[in-house]
Amino acid sequence: DTPFLVDRFGRTARDLRVSITEKCSLRCTYCMPEEGLPPIPADELLTADEIVRLVVLSVRELGVHEVRFTGGEPLMRRDLEKIIAGCRAELPDTPLAMTSNGIGLEHRARKLVEAGLNRVNVSLDTVDPAGFATLTRRDRLDSVLAGIRAAQKAGLAPVKVNAVLMRQTLAGAADLLQWCLDEGAELRFIEEMPLDADHEWARNNMVTAADLLAVLRTRFDLTEIGRDDPAAPAENWLVNGGPGTVGIIASVTRKFCGDCDRTRLTADGRIRSCLFSDQEYDVRAALRNGSSNEEIATLWRGAMWQKWAGHGIDAADFQPPERSMGAIGG
Ligand code: GTP
Ligand code: 5AD
Ligand code: SF4
Repeated sequence: DTPFLVDRFGRTARDLRVSITEKCSLRCTYCMPEEGLPPIPADELLTADEIVRLVVLSVRELGVHEVRFTGGEPLMRRDLEKIIAGCRAELPDTPLAMTSNGIGLEHRARKLVEAGLNRVNVSLDTVDPAGFATLTRRDRLDSVLAGIRAAQKAGLAPVKVNAVLMRQTLAGAADLLQWCLDEGAELRFIEEMPLDADHEWARNNMVTAADLLAVLRTRFDLTEIGRDDPAAPAENWLVNGGPGTVGIIASVTRKFCGDCDRTRLTADGRIRSCLFSDQEYDVRAALRNGSSNEEIATLWRGAMWQKWAGHGIDAADFQPPERSMGAIGG
């Protein structure tokens, strides 16, 4: 019996990703259905206090090293600052990060830093306004760019920018990289995974890391430098000899499940061991029936012990999970 979140394949989860809402201000086609996800009834959503309790417990009793808040879009919750401040008060040394679409960040970046946020990753697929509006089904590019700049100024530099690789934005990839280099942001391209709500993903039509490298090399000189650490999803390239870099998260063509160090909590209070596993564990019920920290820790360890070896996207009988990315949080 170890205090850590270990699984049958010898991996230890040290990175907790907490989805705090399924609401979002955008409707990116690879993530959300046009009409959005059905709202979670208020009494089924974890409260700020419940989230703080679970985060603190995961660090103190289960060996979690870093916590990331995701969504949906975490900025859709007005009590995000309260959640972060609550975690920070109990956990002075734990890195607290957020993955956001950047909308509204312009006005909250400073308050988030004051609350104790250390890092932010912002999703941005193109700097072309028309392309942005088509992909996200909302005309909000300016707000995202302003959000990234405000975060850089507020002490969250370097912001990491996440761009999911899609056919329609591939031609603009070099412009996006140039924009990020100019702003001092760290761009990472991501292979699309079959987690779109509309189930339109197709293995033979997805844009791969190799496709992207071919496009970028028409404008930039790229030198491979590898991963920051073995469990990091991104492999990095030096751009034009540096200091700028670009990363690629090749979840499909170069999967990194063997080094996975993640555990997840959904907005409605379920523990999820993998993006692709529909096996969920109801920690909300445990919280609300008065379970002790030790009982919750035992539930969490049991959930992670059931974790799969990996996503199995290339298997002939692959089935996407019930929840789309918008309900898991990346
Ligand atoms: P950093 O600590 O800043 O590197 O964060 P991160 O890359 O773990 O977090 P982020 O939310 O920015 O995730 C970027 C992308 O990585 C997501 O969009 C996913 O596509 C991918 N990703 C994150 N976690 C996992 C995972 O556990 N499995 C797989 N297959 N992909 C993941
Ligand atoms: N495949 C890969 N990444 C995705 N994201 C959203 N949907 C997908 C998908 N189907 C990314 C977002 C965000 C992160 C949390 O997940 O761009 O940066
Ligand atoms: Fe980990 Fe599952 Fe993601 Fe693979 S797909 S890296 S096992 S969470």
